[in-house]
Amino acid sequence: MPTVTSSWSSRFPPPPTCPRAGPASAHEGRRAGCLRVSRPAAHTPLRDQAALPALPVRARSQWARDPPSPEPRARSSAGAWSQRSRRRVPGPTMESSAAGCVVIVGSGVIGRSWAMLFASGGFQVKLYDIEQQQIRNALESIRKEMKLLEQAGSLKGSLSVEEQLSLISGCTNIQEAVEGAMHIQECVPEDLELKKKIFAQLDSIIDDQVILSSSTSCLMPSKLFAGLVHVKQCIVAHPVNPPYYIPLVELVPHPETAPTTVDRTHALMKKIGQCPMRVQKEVAGFVLNRLQYAIISEAWRLVEEGIVSPSDLDLVMSEGLGMRYAFIGPLETMHLNAEGMLSYCDRYSEGMKHVLKTFGPIPEFSRATAEKVNQDMCMKVPGDPEHLAARRQWRDECLMRLAKLKSQVQPQ
Ligand code: NAI
Repeated sequence: MPTVTSSWSSRFPPPPTCPRAGPASAHEGRRAGCLRVSRPAAHTPLRDQAALPALPVRARSQWARDPPSPEPRARSSAGAWSQRSRRRVPGPTMESSAAGCVVIVGSGVIGRSWAMLFASGGFQVKLYDIEQQQIRNALESIRKEMKLLEQAGSLKGSLSVEEQLSLISGCTNIQEAVEGAMHIQECVPEDLELKKKIFAQLDSIIDDQVILSSSTSCLMPSKLFAGLVHVKQCIVAHPVNPPYYIPLVELVPHPETAPTTVDRTHALMKKIGQCPMRVQKEVAGFVLNRLQYAIISEAWRLVEEGIVSPSDLDLVMSEGLGMRYAFIGPLETMHLNAEGMLSYCDRYSEGMKHVLKTFGPIPEFSRATAEKVNQDMCMKVPGDPEHLAARRQWRDECLMRLAKLKSQVQPQ
């Protein structure tokens, strides 16, 4: 793996939309509200982006007319797993110099993942948060995670860790953060009033090209973006946790969202290796959570009625349905489980209806059942933070391996 030296930035100057270099002083960096991913050496200076020239709006407009096409040099998409043995061209090529600048608003769990994904696709990333310490923590955790991914041969994209890290910077000044951006991904806590306030603020400072996207899990676009001047540029792009390993992104438009906004966001998600899907009109829970809640609802009922133990219920998914759902969905399952979909419906629709009629009302999620389920779950994974964190790490490793397997059997 070639080492990226300081000559890297002089050989490959930063793209016009998002300057990187600047006075190297931690004090200046703090004053200007900008931080960069720290180098391993503890005293490595932070850089000040605020002191750099204003960013041309022209580049944003150009992107809007001509969204980035797949990078010709990197034969695989950004989502493809990097090969340790692969020869990489050192430094950003067209991939980063043409890609543009993305702003992440909120540097928590989801904001960090988005930052890594966009950097893997060669995009300049500005991580904005109201908490400067939160940004420092985010930049440090991104560095650590990328290093681990590299060691595991699972770093996404064709750029090295150092190259990807050099694309990410922190910022606590919203005006400065959005300057030159072509996509803003909001990732603040799931609170309608907070999100509306942030979108109103962004609405007042953005141009008519940048896309305003929310990571919300279940807030309706019609509520989130109500009354915004730039509503045509607004969309929900809902990721699945952990987004680095689970590529699905639900794209949910506001009724007034322009079709080009959906198309551009779709193209952008593909460009960073995610798997976007279009929700044609907004509905509570979008699609993923509607399916998830339907499963949880029936799982709860079966346990509550004493038909199956909580652990055995989970086995039905992990060792049964989930095995094929990692590769084909429920509709394709129907198609394959008979001689095509029509044949399946002819054979099984009456049986399905018979069973479906026995489904009851929405469960109350009573405390008694919750305690019963909790007892069973804690036998497998004790509910303290350490055990839960370890199990999550194991889950992420499994997902990483599954993603590799899927990329081998289902080339994009
Ligand atoms: P989090 O609590 O980990 O992070 C939120 C971040 O927003 C924090 O860094 C906080 O300092 C920052 N923040 C708070 N107010 C802010 C403001 N006014 N301006 C800028 N930054 C501000 O939250 P998390 O889990 O990352 O969730 C973010 C969004 O992503 C939510 O809408 C959530 O529903 C959605 N989401 C979360 C998933 C998950 O499993 N965690 C999965 C999919 C979507």
